[in-house]
Amino acid sequence: MPDYPDKAALAAVEKTLRDSPPLVFAGEARRLRAELAEAAEGRAFLLQGGDCAESFAEFNADKIRDTFRVLLQMAVVLTFGASCPVVKVGRMAGQFAKPRSAETETQGDVTLPCYRGDIVNGMAFTEASRTPDPKRMVQAYSQAAATLNLLRAFAQGGYADLHQVHRWNLGFVGESKQGEKYQDLADRLTETLSFMGACGLTSETTAPIRQTNFYTSHEALLLGYEEALTRVDSTTGDSYDCSAHMLWIGDRTRQEDGAHVEFLRGLHNPIGLKIGPALEADALLRLIDILNPNNDPGRLTLISRMGSDAIWERLPALIRAVEGEGRKVVWSCDPMHANTVKASNGYKTRSFDRILKEIEAFFAIHQAEGSYAGGIHCELTGQDVTECIGGAQEITEDRLADRYHTHCDPRLNASQGLELAFLVAEALKKERNAAARVSAAS
Ligand code: PEP
Ligand code: CO
Repeated sequence: MPDYPDKAALAAVEKTLRDSPPLVFAGEARRLRAELAEAAEGRAFLLQGGDCAESFAEFNADKIRDTFRVLLQMAVVLTFGASCPVVKVGRMAGQFAKPRSAETETQGDVTLPCYRGDIVNGMAFTEASRTPDPKRMVQAYSQAAATLNLLRAFAQGGYADLHQVHRWNLGFVGESKQGEKYQDLADRLTETLSFMGACGLTSETTAPIRQTNFYTSHEALLLGYEEALTRVDSTTGDSYDCSAHMLWIGDRTRQEDGAHVEFLRGLHNPIGLKIGPALEADALLRLIDILNPNNDPGRLTLISRMGSDAIWERLPALIRAVEGEGRKVVWSCDPMHANTVKASNGYKTRSFDRILKEIEAFFAIHQAEGSYAGGIHCELTGQDVTECIGGAQEITEDRLADRYHTHCDPRLNASQGLELAFLVAEALKKERNAAARVSAAS
């Protein structure tokens, strides 16, 4: 937790947040939990993605729209390509706090507290900017509220109508190889929609054609903020953290006896748990018992982030333990966080190849273990950034400097996100066909 020098200001901000309206409604979090239960049972797929860190400086409608749009495009590729319902969850409207490996940063002979995300302090390397300021939590709350408002409008107000699939392909993606591939899929989908329309299933008659459910999520790292936005649901008497629909625990804060596990254990939101290569099977089982004692499918999503090589060694034993003990979870793959490297020019980057390799391994391992690969978790943006190397645009190390805008980790751009979605759709289709063959034979 950050060390706020002004304790009175901190208390005042927490009171302001406690008195403010919740950002989401408990009923929505329950609906997401029900949708995730479908993913835990192998009948749906979770697509979760967005910025590594949202920022106060890059906050505008176009940016929100572009990230929403690429997630919609990816979702349609998965839904249509693999005939599978997709649960859409943004890393948006609250993803502001970052866990850091070091407390401080040194430049020359000056040492200052490290940057912990805009909700805590500023990125500029000055004493004033790096000092944790509680007022930033109020700004984060207000930005999250405005972001969520626009996302709800897009999801329900016509932008997400399936008849708009071609329009989602505007901008730089439209001209890319992935854009053309997407165009073909959109043509086929439009044809299907005409047929359905002729049968009487139109936007007017059929809500799932006209609108979509879109949920928000972030890492529940800054506990003061999360606690101040926790409310007791009047219809059930249960506690919900109303800062987002879904919250997750990061790989650095998942200690069994730690504050984050203790806090999230008491919530009724669907929750995620990042699981990295250091986690052993018995420790994972203990965490599952703490976080999901009733073994409810949809309550807990395990987000593995092992690295494209380590996944082969580390994931199978975890799957065997969890499935062997009959624990119901959604298995999701974060192919980003254990594949981060430093380029020779100093940029923190990720190779698109390795990201795809980890996803391929994730599906192959689940296939071999007889479990269901139920989701992906990506850091991405709808903007044309150059932060990850490779992909159809063949971004090279030399080009990282062109448009490297992230406030923390390198993200996929919209073209890379779409490329990844096509690959996942293929793998998911295979997975689902194999499962259908097994159930037909039994
Ligand atoms: C993140 O998701 O931005 C993150 C820090 O992940 P992890 O906890 O898996 O390292
Ligand atoms: Co990150």
